[in-house]
Amino acid sequence: MSTIYDHGAPGRRAVALPELGQAEEELLARFPPSLRRREGPRLPEVSQPELVRHYTALSRMNYGVDTGFYPLGSCTMKHNPKLHEDLARHPGFTELHPLLPAEECQGALALLWEMGECLKGIAGMPGITLQPAAGAHGELTGMLLLKRWLEDRGELGVRTKILLPDSAHGTNPASAAMAGFSVVSLPSDRRGMVDLAALEGALGPDVAGIMLTVPNTLGIFEEDILTITQLVHEAGGLCYFDGANLNAYLGRARPGDMGADVFHINLHKTFSTPHGGGGPGAGPVTVSEALLPYLPVPDIVREDGKYRLVWDRPKSIGRVHPYFGNTLVIAKALAYILTLGDEGLREASAGAVLAANYLKAKLKGTYRVPYDRLAKHEFVLSGEGLGDGVRTLDIAKRLMDYGFHPPTVYFPLIVKEALMIEPTETEPREVLDAFAEAMLRIAAEARDHPELLRDAPHTTPVRRLDEARAVREPWLRLGGGCVG
Ligand SMILES: Cc1ncc(COP(=O)(O)O)c(C=O)c1O
Repeated sequence: MSTIYDHGAPGRRAVALPELGQAEEELLARFPPSLRRREGPRLPEVSQPELVRHYTALSRMNYGVDTGFYPLGSCTMKHNPKLHEDLARHPGFTELHPLLPAEECQGALALLWEMGECLKGIAGMPGITLQPAAGAHGELTGMLLLKRWLEDRGELGVRTKILLPDSAHGTNPASAAMAGFSVVSLPSDRRGMVDLAALEGALGPDVAGIMLTVPNTLGIFEEDILTITQLVHEAGGLCYFDGANLNAYLGRARPGDMGADVFHINLHKTFSTPHGGGGPGAGPVTVSEALLPYLPVPDIVREDGKYRLVWDRPKSIGRVHPYFGNTLVIAKALAYILTLGDEGLREASAGAVLAANYLKAKLKGTYRVPYDRLAKHEFVLSGEGLGDGVRTLDIAKRLMDYGFHPPTVYFPLIVKEALMIEPTETEPREVLDAFAEAMLRIAAEARDHPELLRDAPHTTPVRRLDEARAVREPWLRLGGGCVG
């Protein structure tokens, strides 16, 4: 693959810059010699067509949800309606200064307030902060709220443990540990759900709470959820629900009714909005009555049809994000909620669950399903034992030759050679069929021509990369130098 430096010739330019209004020497004389470059920067010298073609070619090598099926489990890569982009790009939002006094940005405050009300309704919980910028940030915020609650009750330093099922999302233990809790892992039972006996054994006066991914990373809903939250509450702890998988029960069940005290929502997943590559996102957190006093400030309050900011919350954990969070992500997600309405949201979760179960049924005879229960929005297969030396990574790479983005691999950790597939509700049946067909053909190849898989991908612009090295040594510029 060529870089832009492989194109062009000395003296070629892509743009004509305006004449300098002053002699170059006079301008340079304003800078002390120590700050002046001794030679010009090494920039590519290309014509405009070369420049345009280079970047257009690069963009065509890329793969996104606008290019094709993207069944990346746990990431909810659904279609992002383009109208919402237009709405969020409205100058009334983009040109606002975040320090404007409340009286001068009533429209933006109305939008945030309305989103807060919608999410509280969806969660069935009385309080919210829209500040967190991502799911993991919402988790950390939730853990800090829990800490402040403990402090208020004189139990900080006494209740030091957070219980975490081994099917939890990886960010959950990380967030609990960052907030200063120690993490106790709970095993899953044969159903892929929390082992109730292990939970009862772990509960005690040193437990601050539990963090549950709902549904869990196997795509399975905890059937004993009410018993779990009741046991934790009886033991004096609180219940955190990771709601990044809300796509599975949106509009159908509410965490508040199941005993959740904190619940974060990944707007960039459930409510559409483009994401990936680390951002941008939004991870609002809803809370139960117990945690209302500790929510971040400022709170947006509506009185007599006007909105104002309330800072006077003496027990608040303070800010967790500058200004009001990622407001344009919030704007897009609100557009999604209002466009779909209650019925549309219910249809979205129905479609997500139907698509996942449809695909699971097609693949089940050929691929092993270690926890074979009714799937919610995603399901987990194992790539074990398909062919001589073939591993899940090989299956994922071979899928690229068939034109599909691979699913999430090697996660959750409790499934050997895991393939975690989340089709979402926005794909037509033909696409699901084509993906299933590719997976079945790959399984046959694994048996008859395993080398085809071990060397895959064969048709992509870049062949198999050393992914671990790419992450550990991100050399991103010519001539060396590590970025970050
Ligand atoms: C279940 C679950 N929890 C938490 C997160 C973390 O969210 P974010 O990537 O926005 O920090 C994810 C992200 O994929 C997730 O799938």
